[in-house]
Amino acid sequence: MALFLALETSCDETAAAVFDDQLRVLSSVVASQTELHARFGGVVPEVAARAHLERLLPVLDTALHQAGVTLEQIDCIAVHHTPGLIGALLVGISAAKSLALALGVPLVGVNHVTSHLFACRMAAGRDIFPCVGLVVSGGHTALFDCQEATRMIPLGATRDDAAGEAFDKVAALLGLGFPGGPAVEREAAQGNPGAFRFPRALIHDDRLDFSFSGLKTAVLYALGGQNNANPAPPPPGPLRADLAASFQAAVVEVLVTRCRQACQRSGYRRLAVGGGVAANATLRSALETMARQQGLELFIPPLAYCTDNAAMAASAVEYWRRGEFASLDLDAVPTVA
Ligand code: KG4
Ligand code: ZN
Repeated sequence: MALFLALETSCDETAAAVFDDQLRVLSSVVASQTELHARFGGVVPEVAARAHLERLLPVLDTALHQAGVTLEQIDCIAVHHTPGLIGALLVGISAAKSLALALGVPLVGVNHVTSHLFACRMAAGRDIFPCVGLVVSGGHTALFDCQEATRMIPLGATRDDAAGEAFDKVAALLGLGFPGGPAVEREAAQGNPGAFRFPRALIHDDRLDFSFSGLKTAVLYALGGQNNANPAPPPPGPLRADLAASFQAAVVEVLVTRCRQACQRSGYRRLAVGGGVAANATLRSALETMARQQGLELFIPPLAYCTDNAAMAASAVEYWRRGEFASLDLDAVPTVA
């Protein structure tokens, strides 16, 4: 049996995981930096990179300890090398290369976005491919034709903001703090999702793309803001809750409709949804209802596997089997090609 150590430092979570070639997770440790970025209202790249430097070795040690293994037992190092914040990625990649070199074991570079879909495979504990995959995170909103773990073909993506980014920006407009997703979700629970009819952009467009920046602007206008001048956030109460609920309803309707369309067009009967926004309970239940009506099998990971972690890099096992290793000049690639 081969053992893998995976590292994730693409944004504001420092994470390490140990898994084996049967995709059994022996440990998955995540150190979140939320408290460091909260006062800035968003992730500050340089702060994130420095925090990764401080936290990576303790996180790695904890992951090994919890798995009950030593570094010498590790057979392969995996690392998310794209996409992400360049300084943040470099910390994980440098550590991964050093470990691979020192231990004399192969290195595998894994794509963070498609790993969010492999998280569905990890959580399911069985094969889920081929399927339609939707990644809804802070940096990405994209649909994939997931032919297999290592072949996910893009079907469409957001043309501007990601869904999670829209949650974060609307949270800022409503004065709900950072990170925005969970805060908007809590606020929306008190509100009426039908109070405001916000736009569902591109929903009838042939291409399976998304656009969320107009939705964010619609919330701004509903608050009375114009000409780039941000209005004061509304006080706690029904208006704020209704805005949050109506915004969330628009995002959820767009995401669910796009998933249904992608499944109908591809003919796949399986749908996998991953990324931080997949932690949203309203989205999860709307997807479940749609999947039931359409006769689709739905795979959404538990919350800890929706947000960033290193266990989702376990598609590395497939690359390792095929001998598709990265060289020690593996680059950090901040954007998807
Ligand atoms: O996947 P993730 O942890 O990091 C990225 O790769 O971006 O996603 C983070 C995003 C943030 O924008 C956050 O606001 C959003 O996921 N998020 C949520 C919820 N929990 C996290 N959005 C809506 N509802 C939630 N419960
Ligand atoms: Zn992510």
